[in-house]
Amino acid sequence: METRQPPDVLKYLRLNWKGDSVYSLIDSNSPVSLLASSPLNAGKRDFPHTMSHLDARRWNARYKRESQTWLTHKPKQLLVDFLHLLPSDGYVLDAASGVATNGLELARRGLKTIALDISSVGLALAKQRFQMEDLNLNAAVIDLKHLQLPKDKFDVILNFNFLERKTFPLYRKALKPGGWLLFETFVRNGEVGPHPEYYLNSGELLGAFEDFDIVHTKQLKIPRKSRDTFRRIDQLVARKPM
Ligand SMILES: C[S@@+](CC[C@H](N)C(=O)[O-])C[C@H]1O[C@@H](n2cnc3c(N)ncnc32)[C@H](O)[C@@H]1O
Repeated sequence: METRQPPDVLKYLRLNWKGDSVYSLIDSNSPVSLLASSPLNAGKRDFPHTMSHLDARRWNARYKRESQTWLTHKPKQLLVDFLHLLPSDGYVLDAASGVATNGLELARRGLKTIALDISSVGLALAKQRFQMEDLNLNAAVIDLKHLQLPKDKFDVILNFNFLERKTFPLYRKALKPGGWLLFETFVRNGEVGPHPEYYLNSGELLGAFEDFDIVHTKQLKIPRKSRDTFRRIDQLVARKPM
């Protein structure tokens, strides 16, 4: 059986980037092929080939329904707290960016932001936000389960509220020596619902990057709004060794 290589998304964006478009790297048969590259019409329609992807459908619907809420989100406190240590030029990858609130914060600082997400609607909203501030955003609709990234490319990688373990070795490779990883997502906490794969095990995040220079690591308890329970999140700020 033919095995296809995942796309090198940056090479693709370099070759096809035309300034004002979001490109899709997904088709309905294989999430790793590069069949489609149509510009996105400011969120007015979905890519037909992404619509068969369950997560894409789910997130597209959610971003349509809750666009106003997502657009008023503030950058993650973890990013705000460590912003002063981060570089003010180079490349930042905002992985599973959604509307790219966090990537926007770094674009304001002077970095070139690349936002990757499975939701074309989320990325269209992100594009609008960047345009309103006259900032450029490179964005691609992609399934992060099927990704290739170039070596030593990024000064900063952001991964907030998303977990795909296959990205761990990719982030390790794609960061420049001295590059920064800011990672925060949910940890398994008793009952985890229908998707246990979306939750970190305790200590897993630190273990995956333990040879990096660890600047910050912490577990937080976040009270839920509606119930007398809480969720746990793990935070990591780490630098790839020089
Ligand atoms: C909870 S949101 C987090 C968005 C953003 N990182 C933030 O903190 O505001 C999770 C994001 O992951 C994206 N996502 C889910 N599965 C994905 C996949 N397989 N590949 C790429 N993005 C995915 C969703 O579209 C959504 O934008």
